[in-house]
Amino acid sequence: MATPHIAAEPGDFASAVLMPGDPKRAERIATLLMPDARLVTDVRGMLGFTGTVDGRPLSVLGSGMGQPSITIYATELFSLFGVQRIIRVGTCGAISPRVRIGDVIIANGAHTTSNINQLRLPGLNFSSVADFGLTRAAVDAVSSLSRQDAPQVHVGMVVSDDHFYLANPDPRWWAKLARYGVLGVEMEAAALFATANEFGKQALAVLTASDQLVDPIDPSSRMSPEQRETRFAGALRLAVAAAFS
Ligand code: HPA
Repeated sequence: MATPHIAAEPGDFASAVLMPGDPKRAERIATLLMPDARLVTDVRGMLGFTGTVDGRPLSVLGSGMGQPSITIYATELFSLFGVQRIIRVGTCGAISPRVRIGDVIIANGAHTTSNINQLRLPGLNFSSVADFGLTRAAVDAVSSLSRQDAPQVHVGMVVSDDHFYLANPDPRWWAKLARYGVLGVEMEAAALFATANEFGKQALAVLTASDQLVDPIDPSSRMSPEQRETRFAGALRLAVAAAFS
């Protein structure tokens, strides 16, 4: 059964799917985690893989960038391919001064500058919340990370912005968001969580801070490539723990 965006059969996807934005990253994650990973879809270059981790089935599919794109893939996975849980694994900009580059954010909810969720239930200011069980599983897995080079992990809200380049230019806006407890900015989580709600399924986002918006001279930006990879691997372990919880 092919949809306009996914050329696969329903049984081609595991019930848990990791979703990075970048399809090439999907390929790298699949190769890293699953020696038996096989390509299940490549429509529009959006690569999807399924294999097993320690005998347990898992899929990885790129989401593309932005809330409309992840909504398309999540809708099709949840409604047509039997997927029960999606864990976004991506990057974000840090907006809380507490979050340094390379730190990991387990997003338990996402505000958004988009109208995408208002269109679901007109008149309602929709609250986009991650699945509690997945959030708890990811948080519980933090203690299993090896101490050496383990990322600092934060749990809290992010904001899903529709703009990357035209983001709000007023630094006071970001500072105020940070005061309201918002940790980072990315472009997909709020729509993913709402799509999971729509279908009675589960979603979470585990994000690695790739830049610092409020404190751009963050000295931790001088991390080595090896450190970056280790931190990302840490985030991935939390996402896999949630996927198999
Ligand atoms: N804005 C939005 N998305 C992002 C950013 C950002 O600064 N950094 C990484 N993903």
